Amino acid sequence: MRKYIKLIAPATSANLGPGFDVLAIALQEPCDIVEVEYWDKNEFEISLNVSGNYEVPKDLNKNVLSLLLFKISEKYNLKGKLNISLIKNIPVGMGLGSSAASCVSAVLIAKNIFNINLSLNEMIYIAGEGESFIAGSPHYDNVTACLMGGFVITPIDNLDPVSIMPDKELCLCIVLPKIQLPIKKTEYARKILPQSISLKQMSDNISKSCRIVYSFLTHNYKFLRESMKDYVVEIHRSKMIPGFEEVRNVAYEKGAIGVCISGAGPSILAIIDKRNSNPHVILNAMINAFNKNEVYAEGLITHVSEGAKVLEKVEK
Ligand code: HSE
Repeated sequence: MRKYIKLIAPATSANLGPGFDVLAIALQEPCDIVEVEYWDKNEFEISLNVSGNYEVPKDLNKNVLSLLLFKISEKYNLKGKLNISLIKNIPVGMGLGSSAASCVSAVLIAKNIFNINLSLNEMIYIAGEGESFIAGSPHYDNVTACLMGGFVITPIDNLDPVSIMPDKELCLCIVLPKIQLPIKKTEYARKILPQSISLKQMSDNISKSCRIVYSFLTHNYKFLRESMKDYVVEIHRSKMIPGFEEVRNVAYEKGAIGVCISGAGPSILAIIDKRNSNPHVILNAMINAFNKNEVYAEGLITHVSEGAKVLEKVEK
C-alpha cells in the first residue's frame, strides 16, 4: 500500500514571561511544511530531504524529526519506508519552537501514516520527549501550542492541556536579533536558571500567569504588561540579548500590550491590539532599538495560529 500526507507545523512562542514551560502561543507564520510518502516494507526505513530557509541536520541520527520517528517506530514496532521532505521555514535556535514543530510533525506522521491511536496528551508527551534531544530535558509548552493552536496551558502530569483562541484583533510581532549564541543554546539557556526560588517568587509568578490567562479569556488586557515581566527566568536570559530592555521599552512606548523573550530566546515577542496600535510602527521601533545597540535584527508580523494541520492525505 502507498500513502501520502502533507502537513504544516507552525512556529510557537513559549513562556510569555512568567509561565516557564507552561504557557505558550502558536504563530500563523512561519510554518514548516512536511510531505511524506509511505510504502509497505518489512522493516522501518526513512529517507529525508531537507530544504527551506533554515538549515537543520540532514543526518537521520541528528535530525530531530527522524530521530523521534525512529524512537516511535521502536515503541510501536512500525514497519514501512518513509520518504520525508521537510521544508524548514521556522528559524532554528531563535526561540520560535523550530524543534517543537519537527517533533509535532513526527507525531502527526505516526498518527496519520501508521494509524497509531494516540490521544492528545500522548501526542504532547511523545513530542515533548523529542524536545529533550535538543534541549537536554523534555518540555511540553511549544509542542502543546504547535499541536493545539491558540494560547495554551501545557499539561502537567495527568492534567489535560487547555487552549484558548484569543481575540482576532490581536497580532504578534516577532523580532529576531542576529547575535552570537552559545552552542546548544536552549540547553545552555535552561542551565543558567536557578534550581530553586523563594515562595514569594513562586506566588508572584502564579499571580502573573493567572492574570495572563484572564487577559486572553476576557479580552481585557489591562494586566498583561505588568504580568509578562518575569524575574525568575527572563531576568537571567535577558543578559544574553544586548538591548533587550530598550527593545521592550520602545515596544511599550509605541503601544504593545505585552512583551517578553520568546521561549529560550533570543527572539522577542510583542503582543499588539490592532484596534489601538500599529504593529508596523512597533516592529520598526523594536528593530531600530536593536540597531542602536549595534545588533542587526529582522522581524515579522503575524497572528495567532490554529495549530498544526494535515492538509492532504491520500491512500492508494
Ligand atoms: N520553555 C522552554 C524554555 C522553551 O524556556 O526553556 C524552550 O523552547
